[in-house]
Amino acid sequence: MNRHGKNNRITAIAVLMILLLSLLPAGCRDGADQVAGGDKVKYLIGVSQANLIEPWRILMNEEIKDEAVNHKDLRLIFTDAVQSSNKQIKDVEELLAQGIDLLIISPNDSAALTPIVAEAYKKIPVIVLDRAVEGYDYTLYIGPDNVLIGRDAGKLVAELLQKQGGNVIEIQGLSGSPPVRDRSEGFREVVGSTGHINILDTIIADWQRDKAEDKLAELIPRYPRIDVIFAQNDYMALGAYRATRKLGRKDVKVVGIDGFAGPTGGLKLVEEGILEGTFTCPTGGREAVQYAIAILNHERGIPKKIILRSNKMTRETIPEYLQAREGRQGNVSRTGGRIVVGFSQVGAESGWRIANSESIKQAAKDEGIELLFVEADQRQEKQIETIRSFIEQKVDVIAFAPVVATGWEGILKEAKAAGIPVILSDRAVEGVDPSLYTTFIGGDFVEEGRRAARWLAAKTKGWPTVNIVELEGTIGSAPAIDRKKGFDEISKDHPAFKVLYSASGDFTEVQGKEAMQAALAIYGGDIQVVYAHNDDMALGAIQAIEEFGLKPGRDILVVSIDATRAAFKAMLEGKLNCAVECTPLLGPQLMQAVKWHMAGRQLPIRIITSEEVFPSELAAQEYSSRRY
Ligand code: AHR
Repeated sequence: MNRHGKNNRITAIAVLMILLLSLLPAGCRDGADQVAGGDKVKYLIGVSQANLIEPWRILMNEEIKDEAVNHKDLRLIFTDAVQSSNKQIKDVEELLAQGIDLLIISPNDSAALTPIVAEAYKKIPVIVLDRAVEGYDYTLYIGPDNVLIGRDAGKLVAELLQKQGGNVIEIQGLSGSPPVRDRSEGFREVVGSTGHINILDTIIADWQRDKAEDKLAELIPRYPRIDVIFAQNDYMALGAYRATRKLGRKDVKVVGIDGFAGPTGGLKLVEEGILEGTFTCPTGGREAVQYAIAILNHERGIPKKIILRSNKMTRETIPEYLQAREGRQGNVSRTGGRIVVGFSQVGAESGWRIANSESIKQAAKDEGIELLFVEADQRQEKQIETIRSFIEQKVDVIAFAPVVATGWEGILKEAKAAGIPVILSDRAVEGVDPSLYTTFIGGDFVEEGRRAARWLAAKTKGWPTVNIVELEGTIGSAPAIDRKKGFDEISKDHPAFKVLYSASGDFTEVQGKEAMQAALAIYGGDIQVVYAHNDDMALGAIQAIEEFGLKPGRDILVVSIDATRAAFKAMLEGKLNCAVECTPLLGPQLMQAVKWHMAGRQLPIRIITSEEVFPSELAAQEYSSRRY
């Protein structure tokens, strides 16, 4: 159907729905709702909300509506599943029947909603908000890092209790939902590590204020000393506060999560001294609409996951937060006029890296951003020196791909002290406070390792032995650590998998070949599989196997990560069996993040790129369109 025909259809549906809805009494409208963005409707977006009992979800819908107003050719249809997964499944079916172009869904229950989300994704793009579904059958996920929020809450509770420690009660949301599990995990990890905080009891209050108040009213008399109540949302925290005050327990401190503005929001509760603190849990509503438009306009470089940043809210931090929010009209370039970005690159160790450098340089050019680009020959000291020189040159933004995961705290603190934001590109860092960097943009290396192992498990099904040589990346680098971790995680369930030999090839072809020669010298024909952490090392291993007189891809299966053109060529030649994608084309997303920062937007804490798996059977059809 052409767009004109579609517009007519949408207008007819819209008129019909408005008529129907206006005939229904308010209580029977079942949460269906429409927002008109303008006269000419180009896109119809369905928004399936889990419930509208939680104020946080009402805010999510409001943010979606507010952002939609900026896009005049957009119509939204809202549904409310009233906390029922069965109802939400029906809602999605009805939205699909109405011909929506894209679905935004915040699932009531992750497992129950997974099949219908996968079904919808076969037909249209799907953005999943807040609660993830299982697997990867969706276009984009946007949500918070609930483990991190739980940890931050734990740190605040530890600060409140100081060295003497104390007794805590935890109030959880709806039993079995992922944010409940994750927030609790993060919280318990931190308070448990103090050794002097005792979790007295845990109650489940389904995210509801009144349930929290009633259940606590019964529980409190049992405990003569309660120091802090941690509630997994502000609404339940308010219920907790009421219960304590009704029972005359004025000394009990309360901490929550959500931190939104407005008369009933957590910010006000903190300002009024009802809560000691809360943590913002962004809804992602605005971002969902912005990305929906980008997806519907077929823009390139849409990420797979966007993890939003949470902010700590106490009476001390609120003024600074509000000031930053008000002042986010835009950051002024320190270098006068043009935006200057300093980028410290790992080096030029692989085909992937060369494509990554090109992507960054090209994107800077396209966006009119001045780029200071320095390679570090895989040396951390050189990266630290380079970053320090960027600080001295007072660039607007520093970006870097950390060669190894640890040892960055000092230089990141120097950048923070100089007021220069830092973006992590491609590789993440470990053991630093996330407030020391603005965002991370890159792949999910653990998942890449899992994907390689899953492919291998399917390929070797029924084999009595699967003898593996693992060629690891640079020792201590995030991709080497995580790709091993992901592979090992899946391997555990496959007793035939046995890593005979494992060595680092430093992500280079030459060292990959040397490591494989060493493995062949010891294990020779017993080797059945090579798992290489990147294509370059796999290509080196292929040469070693051939020189040893065996046929790579047939006598020894080879699976690697990156999926560069060179890997595709090897697959077409029958020498490589599978390439797991890790995209180096990060430049456009990096420069977009720079621009968003300069425009005053708070960036997500992590932007995870979209990646696929290419078994050799798919190589021929993909090769010609391969961009790196
Ligand atoms: O950090 C990404 C990794 O670094 C790539 O997989 C590898 O080829 C590169 O050198």
